[in-house]
Amino acid sequence: MKLKLKIWRQKNAVDAGGMVSYDLEGVSTDMSFLEMLDTLNEKLIMEGEDPVAFDHDCREGICGSCGVVINGDAHGPEQTTTCQLHMRSFKDGEEIIIEPWRAAPFPVIKDLVVDRGAFDRIIGAGGYITAPTGSSPEGNSTRIPKPDADAAFANATCIGCGACVAACPNGSASLFVSAKVTHLNLLPQGQPERTTRVLDMVEQMDAEGFGGCTNTGMCTVSCPKEIPFTSIANLNKEYRRAVQQSNKA
Ligand code: SF4
Ligand code: FES
Repeated sequence: MKLKLKIWRQKNAVDAGGMVSYDLEGVSTDMSFLEMLDTLNEKLIMEGEDPVAFDHDCREGICGSCGVVINGDAHGPEQTTTCQLHMRSFKDGEEIIIEPWRAAPFPVIKDLVVDRGAFDRIIGAGGYITAPTGSSPEGNSTRIPKPDADAAFANATCIGCGACVAACPNGSASLFVSAKVTHLNLLPQGQPERTTRVLDMVEQMDAEGFGGCTNTGMCTVSCPKEIPFTSIANLNKEYRRAVQQSNKA
């Protein structure tokens, strides 16, 4: 395949940045999107130019590091991570526009790399349980109803990639926060912090500058792990319950 790439280039956090065009030949349909960017970077390095900076780690859809906006869609045309997207999803001769996540709480560090530290700070505010460390307890010693276990597991699959924020017209992190709150608040191990968790995580989400949810649903259709929209309804329910509990205390 031959491609015309238009890529956001930005030297550092304070550089104004801009789109730069590149022609790339010899792209196989079997390449992943990141391998296509690797091919471009090899060419740029051979020509003595600065390679395009982009984030990646596992390249297996599990770490959440990768993520760019491709032709206007977070993670591109398939509902998967950028590392699991393949060039067979594009046509020979196609123009592909590649940009970083666009959201004020995710400032650009360089080119396509953004700082997603805001997510880490939200997790630090309440995305954990209090449990003794040491050997793992026997699997069946804490009984959990199957529907709760299934829902907790589905929400635990959130990889913190940030596509939901990038896709949302409000730059809301509600789907991410709702996945973490739903996962932990459903399980017995998450009960000691059930009330403080949701209050503190929502407070941190607001402090980071993420927008509010207005039910547009772009987050859930862009989410590579298909975190359901109902998790946001559950976040609202948990928040309301936590406010009532803290008013009683
Ligand atoms: S909810 Fe989905 S899109 Fe958002 S961070 Fe988690 S995995 Fe990524
Ligand atoms: S590189 Fe890990 S999810 Fe894409």
